[in-house]
Amino acid sequence: MSRPKVLVTRLLPEKPLDVLREQCAVDLYDKHDPMPRELLIDKVGKVDAVICLLTDGMDRGVIEKAYSVRAICDVSVGYNNVDIAAARERSIWVTNTPDVLTDATANLTWALILGITRRVAEGDRLIRRGGWTGFRFDFLLGSDLAGKRLGIIGMGRIGQAVARRALAFGMEIVYLPSSRKRRRGVSRFDDGLRATPLPFDELMRTSDIVALHCPLTPETHHLIDDRALSLMKETAYLINVARGPVVDEVALAKALRARRIAGAGLDVFENEPTVLADLLDLDNVVLLPHIGSATVETRTAMAQLAVDNCLAILNGKRPLTPVPELTDLPVYS
Ligand code: DGY
Repeated sequence: MSRPKVLVTRLLPEKPLDVLREQCAVDLYDKHDPMPRELLIDKVGKVDAVICLLTDGMDRGVIEKAYSVRAICDVSVGYNNVDIAAARERSIWVTNTPDVLTDATANLTWALILGITRRVAEGDRLIRRGGWTGFRFDFLLGSDLAGKRLGIIGMGRIGQAVARRALAFGMEIVYLPSSRKRRRGVSRFDDGLRATPLPFDELMRTSDIVALHCPLTPETHHLIDDRALSLMKETAYLINVARGPVVDEVALAKALRARRIAGAGLDVFENEPTVLADLLDLDNVVLLPHIGSATVETRTAMAQLAVDNCLAILNGKRPLTPVPELTDLPVYS
């Protein structure tokens, strides 16, 4: 019997790839850059499954050419790169990689929170350009966290992990309930987090740090716009480890430049890898190149989970972590 064919759109860690190769014929695009769209369209037509990254646009145009594809396995927790409706129409399973990256991403969120509130990158830049003239009592003063309010938008796994860490810093936690929870009238956690649900405007108005961990959807696109930023305290910080387009970057750059908010920590951008020029010369923003889950252990676990999902589907079993919209798809026999 011929082995199933799997397209892997990017170089992944060796061990998960070896596991995949034991059962499948793997077409690996062994580059660090995204596969060109024309090549992706050409290749999806010849395989049974695709293991891809958040930078691969698995849109309707691509999915319509995926004649024999049974699985699209994203190596990321966010799956806004996949057209879920188009996948459903063709009964293609879509999987993502939740859980395995929760701690790494929550830790990087805290790196950004501490980095911006204690001016870490600013101090580093200052020393490197020879600008440090000696200890001064009132130099590079930042902000404390104890007793301050952390407002979390996107209280899923990562949001909750960020909140748990906030307890160790003595912060008060508030969060925006998801639209599903708002519809069902459920909004309080019972897991010891001591987190209080707040409406959006109140969260924005009263939080000292606003951390974004929501998925990118039509509802969250530019959720943080000029109006939302204008609600924030002048002393507050915005952290984005979710997806760039959740924030209107032009509005954010304006607010930062005018010191209408104190600062921001960004791991994601609207047009990656391009970063808005207006952000680059600002000292009150820390910029990271989308490395939320970038540890050796976590990236290996993400790749392994994507491979496990792919093999499950190709072997006629339910995948371990299908995206919530497609949990009802039939298994292939
Ligand atoms: C994800 O998994 O969605 C992250 O953004 C990748 O690090």
